[in-house]
Amino acid sequence: MGIGIRIENLRKVYDTPPPSAARGGGFSFMAQRSAGSKEKKEKKKKFEVVALDDISLEMRAGEVFGLLGPNGAGKSTTIGVLTTRTRPTSGRAFIGEFDVWKEQVKAKRLIGVVPQRPNLDFALTAREVLLFHGAYFGQSSREREQKTQTLLEQFKLTERADDMVRNFSGGMMQRISIARAMMHDPQVLFLDEPSAGLDPQTRLLLWEIVREYNRLGKTIVLTTHDMAEADSLCHRLAIIDHGRIISQGTPQELKASIPGGYLLRLRFDRAPEELLAVLRSLPGVTEVRSADHIAADVYADRGGPLISSIVTAAQAAGAELHDVHIAEPSLETLFLHHTGRSLRD
Ligand SMILES: Nc1ncnc2c1ncn2[C@@H]1O[C@H](COP(=O)(O)OP(=O)(O)O)[C@@H](O)[C@H]1O
Ligand SMILES: [Mg+2]
Repeated sequence: MGIGIRIENLRKVYDTPPPSAARGGGFSFMAQRSAGSKEKKEKKKKFEVVALDDISLEMRAGEVFGLLGPNGAGKSTTIGVLTTRTRPTSGRAFIGEFDVWKEQVKAKRLIGVVPQRPNLDFALTAREVLLFHGAYFGQSSREREQKTQTLLEQFKLTERADDMVRNFSGGMMQRISIARAMMHDPQVLFLDEPSAGLDPQTRLLLWEIVREYNRLGKTIVLTTHDMAEADSLCHRLAIIDHGRIISQGTPQELKASIPGGYLLRLRFDRAPEELLAVLRSLPGVTEVRSADHIAADVYADRGGPLISSIVTAAQAAGAELHDVHIAEPSLETLFLHHTGRSLRD
């Protein structure tokens, strides 16, 4: 029972720019391949984006696994490779025992996919989207009608079942897109940013549906850049950035791996080295970072109780504390700790 997933040393290098519609918020980078001297003379710019840089991962049978990372991290490319949409440059991927790229048909039977951008046929009604998908997977008409009815109800779309999906709101399209992916009852469900753009209520409905599907023993892989979603929905997570895995584990393990746990982001009029040294010596402080000698990130095992000592230390160093932000242990602070950037940027 249950199907696991394995990725081995996956690399993906794109050598043409993404179609403009698919371009995310940020390019990770646009490296020029070190060209030979002849090529250099031609001054031809070689386009190259390393989307996946040697990723290995295991997603266990029956778990909800999350890929968490900012725009352009390589989440959709990973899903693309696992769902036979994107051919890897090198490395291998398995759904259960099937090599995704050698046994595409068998792998495809086991999976349901909700792409980041809905690819629904706008000329169909919601009901038809589901019925046609069931037919495509060889379901009898009785079977697909029953299943369609159940899913329409589960996704609260029964009243709109016979409306064309082209008139649906973004949230409704997302719901029908997820229902379609579940139509053939796949053992593994891939959801690429399922809750992006959903209103809070629909987002909760989606979480409930994901949990319920998972309770049936199904493996679920989802991508998100929403820490709350990753935290509440996923059994295990991999945090990825620039095509690499930064960290992985259960949400609890990941949060516990932040030095100290709490992060105090401080801003002074100036933060000379002597002040930073005093901050480092405060009880409970595990790490202090300052890139510019104005702001300082203090990792510590407590938050608020440290403030008065920080103010005292600043005064003694002739500096003034302008701003404090205390972050409790979270995946956000973990990401920040590893990359120096916020997940939201
Ligand atoms: N079809 C494509 N062609 C060229 N480059 C692409 C394509 N799809 C994605 N990329 C690039 O690969 C990197 C990873 O993208 P993607 O996997 O979509 O990240 P994410 O889903 O985490 O936002 C980005 O730099 C993106 O611009
Ligand atoms: Mg994506």
